[in-house]
Parts: sequence; structure tokens; C-alpha cells
Amino acid sequence: MPRLIVVTGASAGIGKASAKRFAENTDKVLLIARGRDRLTRAAEEIASSVPGADLEPLALDMSDAESAQTLQNHIRSIGLPVNSVVCCAGSVPRSEDEAEGKDVRTVLTEWQEAYEANVLTSVIAVEGLLPHMADGGSIVLYSSIAAYRGSRGTGGYGAAKAALHSYVHSLATRLGPRGISANVIAPGYIAGTDLFGDGLSAARETMLVRQTALRRAGDPAEVAELGFYLCSPAGGYVTSQILQINGGSYHGV
Ligand SMILES: NC(=O)c1ccc[n+]([C@@H]2O[C@H](COP(=O)([O-])OP(=O)(O)OC[C@H]3O[C@@H](n4cnc5c(N)ncnc54)[C@H](OP(=O)(O)O)[C@@H]3O)[C@@H](O)[C@H]2O)c1
Repeated sequence: MPRLIVVTGASAGIGKASAKRFAENTDKVLLIARGRDRLTRAAEEIASSVPGADLEPLALDMSDAESAQTLQNHIRSIGLPVNSVVCCAGSVPRSEDEAEGKDVRTVLTEWQEAYEANVLTSVIAVEGLLPHMADGGSIVLYSSIAAYRGSRGTGGYGAAKAALHSYVHSLATRLGPRGISANVIAPGYIAGTDLFGDGLSAARETMLVRQTALRRAGDPAEVAELGFYLCSPAGGYVTSQILQINGGSYHGV
């Protein structure tokens, strides 16, 4: 029986690389993101480079609680237990650059958006899928180096990511008796993703690279490989951990 892997945020960046890595392992992969066209293109791109890939794109907004029900119905229609849930869906608030001069309501809206996009997307996916998960399965959530060193603007993005660190410990304790592992991956700067919209300024990119010990940005495939390991039998004894993958970036802005 093939493994069924659910990857949220699978239309771009790390999520797309993760979906490809599981497909290469002949797993059945359910790819989720909001934008249908980009998601379909991602699935086609993976299928073209992984012959025989078993991929199912499903357009859903994972910050909407209703999506849990849709997802459950879809899993029932597939008729397989879920082996792994990899929650890559997340985003940086577009207005994060400015910190000062905003009124409290604006700041509150940004923090709520950051929380919905980076925490609730994971909570809705995980809690919605738990009744359908196979014992011995695995959960991977995506945090960021920002959880350790703060983020730009008023800091809502980094704070939201840090909330996942606490959630994963609760998950690991709850699900340990079922043999389900739960871990967080906290990447540093990974190039070739859509996370930064139109891209980082050259100056900021240079600074981020200079902060690494390896003097280079990470690649989505390198991060996906770590997630793949955590969802493999070889990674089965790793649980309740926050794994940083950042080329040796030091903390502190
Ligand atoms: N790239 C980095 O340097 C970096 C560093 C640290 C942490 N991370 C974290 O790693 C994860 C993956 O980042 P990435 O760089 O691969 O980002 P990305 O290239 O921007 O991809 C984000 C994916 O999430 C989807 N998404 C966003 N909101 C969603 C929602 N509400 N429901 C469903 N899908 C949603 C996007 O598609 P739609 O917009 O169509 O929904 C897209 O497929 C994120 O959690 C990010 O915060 C990334």
C-alpha cells in the first residue's frame, strides 16, 4: 500500500520541493494551496520530472476552519490513512517592513493575519487530519529563524512561528502513544521561494547570506530532504524537536 502524504503550501518553494521528494519515493501526495492555477502548474511540473508520480492537487485555504471538513471528505474519498502531514503553508505579512507610526488597530490586524497564516493553517490541517492518520505516522510543521531572532516590523511573523514550537511539544505528547512523531523545521534564508513576493533587495539578501557560516542561501530541496527524513522510518525516534536548518546563521538581527 502506498503512503499517503499531505503537503500544505505545495504550490511553491519548500512545499513544492517536499511534494516532489515524496513523489520520488513513490508516495501518493495530496498537494494543497489556495491558488488553483499555480497549484496545478506545480503538480504538472513535478509529474514531468518524476515519471509515475501519484499527485492530487486540492485548492484550499488552510486558514479557513471549513477547509478541515473539505479535507476530511477528500481523504475519505481517497480511502487511505494519512501517513504524514507536512505543513509548509505560511506567509510573511506584506506590510511587515514598517514598524513605527502605525495605529494599534493596524498592528493588531497584522498580528492576527500572521497568526492565521502561520499558526492556524497548521492547526487546522493537523487537527482536521488527526482522526484519519495512521498510527506510526509523522507531522512536520514549519517555523522560521525569525522565531528565535524576531522579525521585521512589529514582529508578528516571528511571534506566530514561535507559537508552533509550543504546539509541537503538545502534539508530540498527545500522539506519542500512537507512535506519531511531531517536529518543527525552522529554516533560515532559503532562496528560490515565493515567500518574499517580488524578492528581497540585493542588500538584504547579501546580509542574510553573510550571516551564514556557509556563506550561501539554502535551497528548498535541502529543506525538503530534512522533512522527508522526519517522515521516514529512519527518523521515527525523532519527536518533539525544533530542527534548525540555516547554514549556520547566527541569531540576532
Ligand atoms: N523561504 C524562506 O527563506 C523561509 C525561511 C524560514 C521559514 N520559511 C517557512 O517555510 C514555509 C514554506 O515557505 P516557502 O518559502 O516555501 O514559501 P512560498 O514559496 O511563499 O510558498 C508558500 C506556500 O504556501 C501556500 N499558502 C500560503 N497561505 C496558505 C493558506 N492560507 N492555505 C493554503 N496554502 C497557503 C502558498 O500558496 P497560495 O498562496 O496559493 O495559497 C504556497 O504554496 C513557510 O511556513 C515559511 O514561513 C521559509
